Amino acid sequence: MAEIRIVAIRKIKIGSKVQCDIYSKDGALILKKGNVMTEHILEKLETMGVTRVLVEAGTVELIDDAPEKKEDGGLPKDNIDKYSDNFILKKEFEQGKETLLNKDVDGSHEVALSIAGKLMASGSVKKELDELKYGTEGVVTHSLNTAVLAGAIGIENGFPKEEIEQLVVGGMLHDIGKLYIDPAVLNKKGRLNDREYEIMKTHAEEGYRKLCDNKGVSQHIRLMAFQHHENNDGTGYPKRLHGDQILFEARIIHVVDVYEAMTAKRCYKDSLLSGDVMEFVMGRYATMFDTKAMDMFLKTIPAYKKGDLIKLSDGTKCQVLESNPKNSLRPLVVLLDSMKVVDLYNDRNFLSKTVTEYISKEGDIVKHNN
Ligand SMILES: [Fe+2]
Repeated sequence: MAEIRIVAIRKIKIGSKVQCDIYSKDGALILKKGNVMTEHILEKLETMGVTRVLVEAGTVELIDDAPEKKEDGGLPKDNIDKYSDNFILKKEFEQGKETLLNKDVDGSHEVALSIAGKLMASGSVKKELDELKYGTEGVVTHSLNTAVLAGAIGIENGFPKEEIEQLVVGGMLHDIGKLYIDPAVLNKKGRLNDREYEIMKTHAEEGYRKLCDNKGVSQHIRLMAFQHHENNDGTGYPKRLHGDQILFEARIIHVVDVYEAMTAKRCYKDSLLSGDVMEFVMGRYATMFDTKAMDMFLKTIPAYKKGDLIKLSDGTKCQVLESNPKNSLRPLVVLLDSMKVVDLYNDRNFLSKTVTEYISKEGDIVKHNN
């Protein structure tokens, strides 16, 4: 299988072959899979706001002397889709992007099982969470991240192997129905109107139906796709189920799904401060989210990840080195002006400081909502 890479438009040399259909934000097909990039198309894509595409490694010539734009002491701008060599799921993420984009359920199922196996064998699942990147690719990156986050919850809370596998596969396939939604609705910039929202909501049932067509997928996994938007208090969709009527694994996917979607920057919205997302999620304890699933989520998922740039209430800029398992809002950081390493949880000089800004990998500054 050829290696598929995601590259920035500005790095592609003329003559490269594109490996997926590319749509404009309005949903119009602007370049069909297999077509060759021309200068005119590149310009058109940039005008339309398309910044990255999938290309087959080896067939693509990249301009490798383009300088990497750096943040103020932080990470390069284009690292969002590049995973470090330390990331044990690098290969699975590349394969998973391809299988999901091709709506290949069997292939995605297989990749998810490989992710589950590696997570269980890693012995340091929280380190793997630090390697996740919240990108701009919508359903595909979201599904891969959700798979890993759900699997991490299973591992950290002592689930048996089969249930961890189910969580990872369910996370991978929960939004597969979105791949069948009109791209004009799926990728719309700005708020959906009522009609569009109703269309978007059909993805849960649509995903269930598509998974029913596939005999290799268990009923459990199908139900995780069907029920992952049901709320604990019965206000969700598609069936307005509540409490124990909702499969427990679907309740876990629900909280992880919302957390991942809110933390990520998407084509239609900016990312939110991860601490604020945590507060949002906690504020819906027992209403939107099941309490047991929430407790497991809070025990597992860090508010800040390695590499995040944050600003403290006294104006100090820091970069996160490690999340803190005891209090995910107080990570280990390096101060960017002095390069001094500070433990925000234990250092008395910093206990009263709070995180007020989060500077995303793409350079967007997200201020605290409070
Ligand atoms: Fe969904």
